[in-house]
Amino acid sequence: MTAELEARILLAQEIERGASVLSSRVVEAFLNVPRHPFVPAFYRRDGAKHVPTRGHNHEWLQAVYTDDVLVTEVDGVRAEDAPDSGVAGDATSSSTAPGLMAEMLEALDVRPGDRVWEIGTGTGYNAALLCHLAGAGNVTTVDRTARLVDAARERLREVGFEPAVLRADGAGAPPPGGPFDRIVATCAVRRVPRSWLEQCVTGGVIVAPIGNTLGGGAVVHLTKLPDGGAAGRFLHRPAAFMPLHTDGSTAATGLPAQVTGRRRASVVGARVLDDQAFSFWAGLCLPRTVLRGGGTLHDPADGSTVRVDDHPGRPSTVTASGPRDLWQVVESAWNGWRRHHRPRREWLTLTVHGDGTQVVGFTAPDGGTMVWLL
Ligand SMILES: C[S@@+](CC[C@H](N)C(=O)[O-])C[C@H]1O[C@@H](n2cnc3c(N)ncnc32)[C@H](O)[C@@H]1O
Repeated sequence: MTAELEARILLAQEIERGASVLSSRVVEAFLNVPRHPFVPAFYRRDGAKHVPTRGHNHEWLQAVYTDDVLVTEVDGVRAEDAPDSGVAGDATSSSTAPGLMAEMLEALDVRPGDRVWEIGTGTGYNAALLCHLAGAGNVTTVDRTARLVDAARERLREVGFEPAVLRADGAGAPPPGGPFDRIVATCAVRRVPRSWLEQCVTGGVIVAPIGNTLGGGAVVHLTKLPDGGAAGRFLHRPAAFMPLHTDGSTAATGLPAQVTGRRRASVVGARVLDDQAFSFWAGLCLPRTVLRGGGTLHDPADGSTVRVDDHPGRPSTVTASGPRDLWQVVESAWNGWRRHHRPRREWLTLTVHGDGTQVVGFTAPDGGTMVWLL
């Protein structure tokens, strides 16, 4: 057995151990589709820099067959093309952690012959798994740049698949080949785009990461309803996907250099947002607010900003400026979350109505309900 095949089998076993339940079809896809052709190079984090690791040695193979995300592009520079000294910037493409991919594919429930649309081709690895599950002729995958889709198309061909790999904005006009039985996004959206709903057949499935500006992203699993809407639940596993970019969506949000203003004490410290189930819940209560480093929250719409400083053995201090004390919303969300027995993501539902309204819902053990608009 080759080292690559041995590593692939070990990864499939690791994925199976880590997941709640996986069907044999999904495990089989991971056993049959290699990851290494799709990540000939990736970045490792070294302080503020991303340093490339290029392929075909033991260290590279080990990392490729680990259940971990591999960043493959930083600010448009592919790891293959990066200088040895590395580059600074933000990740713009990656190969998702295989365990998370497996849970999303499980939720997607792809059958042979299903027409599938993937938004976020990236390396092409997930598209290859989709080809294995549905048949390559049924798969359409799109990404934003020619550089990404050309490389992915080539690698997919090398492993024997020829799906439609197209350069397109996943939130824009749908690609040819629809309507689709299964739609999967591997970049995060704040709301499910209308075109995804329109392109999904009744009874079809949409699996998509819903981003959350306070950190706790989650993947939603929706079924398209006969009335044109869709409904479903969030998956258990946290999922911090890079956002779906639309032109202009990365504009700076004007965070003040210093937060000066009203000061007060709080028994709820900044570390509460480290719990991803809570930060998802809190993000629903503060939909526009952005979490910045150093315990700072900022709402670009009304300019409210708050900084929370934790002090060992003493209450935290909150400094708030602008029209709203954003930390008051987090405090109240924290109290509600604890009162409701710390709801996990999978206890929450998402209903997308035909008129475009998108509502997250929670039914408490006492029968009371809470709703948030996305
Ligand atoms: C996590 S990566 C995708 C991983 C990929 N499925 C794989 O298996 O390697 C997210 C991808 O979403 C893409 N993306 C971001 N905004 C997009 C948009 N508006 N339309 C299409 N793709 C987009 C990024 O370019 C990036 O390649």
